[in-house]
Amino acid sequence: MSEKEYFAHETAVIDQPCQIARGVKIWHFSHVMENCQIGEGCNLGQNVVISPNVKLGKNVKVQNNVSIYTGVECEDDVFLGPSMVFTNVINPRSAVNRRGDYQKTLVKRGATIGANSTVVCGHDIGEFAFIGAGAVVTKHVPAYALVVGNPSKQIGWMSEYGHRLEFNEEGIALCPESKERYQLKDNAVSKLKENKS
Ligand SMILES: CC(C)(COP(=O)(O)OP(=O)(O)OC[C@H]1O[C@@H](n2cnc3c(N)ncnc32)[C@H](O)[C@@H]1OP(=O)(O)O)[C@@H](O)C(=O)NCCC(=O)NCCS
Repeated sequence: MSEKEYFAHETAVIDQPCQIARGVKIWHFSHVMENCQIGEGCNLGQNVVISPNVKLGKNVKVQNNVSIYTGVECEDDVFLGPSMVFTNVINPRSAVNRRGDYQKTLVKRGATIGANSTVVCGHDIGEFAFIGAGAVVTKHVPAYALVVGNPSKQIGWMSEYGHRLEFNEEGIALCPESKERYQLKDNAVSKLKENKS
């Protein structure tokens, strides 16, 4: 790791060893702990904590006041909204040592987690899933699902560009921005591969 390949504000604290890829930006008062892997182009906002052994893929955007605890992994292009909360112990008690007893949370590629929401540990967030602001996630979230509320419930589907998908009777929806088409089949969404010929 070369210090020249990424930017860290002078108030950031970076413990060693850790791997920080090129193009990463680490802003004011943030703390990266030992054995972390931070992928290319990640942005860690102000007052962000990355706990030991956490892995972030490429281009993960972490907004202000987010702590990513051991047991959490974020794949490429994940967006973590301001002050969202991860957890890693399901039944914490101050007087009982549960260090190392962490439940895992995998946030898959392209997912967005809204501002001030909470992910109860042990639940995965599917690819391109969208968690609304203030939601409390207590179950696995399927790919492309939009969930809101406490406890969070699915109210729809979102495209990779972050638009609501309205499916027609054939189970096909068009993203208004990217013009890509999606299929809803057996209560699961996938993006259609268009024939560009
Ligand atoms: C979830 C979200 C994408 C929905 O946007 P939308 O598709 O435009 O939804 P609408 O505003 O049309 O709302 C649809 C319904 O869902 C409800 N709703 C929307 N967002 C909600 C939320 N976060 N929590 C609970 N209910 C919500 C609305 O009240 C509305 O309910 P109604 O049908 O009973 O009136 C958006 O509200 C949201 O939470 N975005 C995340 C913003 C954020 O955290 N950004 C972080 C970077 S700054």
